[in-house]
Amino acid sequence: MADGFTIAIDGPAAAGKGTVSKAVAEYFGFAHLDTGLLYRAVGAKVLAGRDALDAARTLVVEDLEDDSLRTPDVAQAASKVAVIAEVRAALLDFQRSFAARSGGAVLDGRDIGTVICPHARVKLFVTASAEIRAQRRFAELSGRGITDSFETVLADVKARDARDMERVEAPLKPADDATIIDTSRLTIDQAVAAAVAAVQAAGGQKA
Ligand code: CDP
Repeated sequence: MADGFTIAIDGPAAAGKGTVSKAVAEYFGFAHLDTGLLYRAVGAKVLAGRDALDAARTLVVEDLEDDSLRTPDVAQAASKVAVIAEVRAALLDFQRSFAARSGGAVLDGRDIGTVICPHARVKLFVTASAEIRAQRRFAELSGRGITDSFETVLADVKARDARDMERVEAPLKPADDATIIDTSRLTIDQAVAAAVAAVQAAGGQKA
């Protein structure tokens, strides 16, 4: 019944996509794929000296489970490999197969509603101001013992936004038919409730 029901959740760095996506997947009983991890895993391998395309073509699911993928250096490396068309192409089939799995799927990223799953049943674009996103990322990194200053985190977020939005291949932008959720003034619960309501309005039901 929920077979092939795909929910695409896109948005800029640290907008709350991850939190909203996990909560929506849990609510509906769908599987969840954080596609940023694919690019982070490739970026991490490039930092370790590997060729980006070779790393993308040989990526395995276990590569996504590494905790060190959540560092600012890896985030920047991810957005650099993400501009390479061949890298994106190498990661396409895995994402599309995941989206088509039985029982429903939530994918979050930058180009899910525009390129990976243009026929997704629901498309959400989760966003917030750069300052608020940087505050959230700063708090998250501080909580994990990473001591970058707020100014550094804000500059990183802005640099990544620019690279993600200005690239030729699959740039970050809302799909024409996406529902925009601006989380700047929303609590997590409010953002999740808005996302769940949008999915229900599109006919989504618990798996
Ligand atoms: O968690 P955060 O929003 O900071 O980043 P992420 O979702 O883990 O994505 C890291 C980087 O991967 C982004 O800045 C993008 O450059 C790239 N990415 C992409 O190009 N396409 C996707 N579908 C997901 C991520």
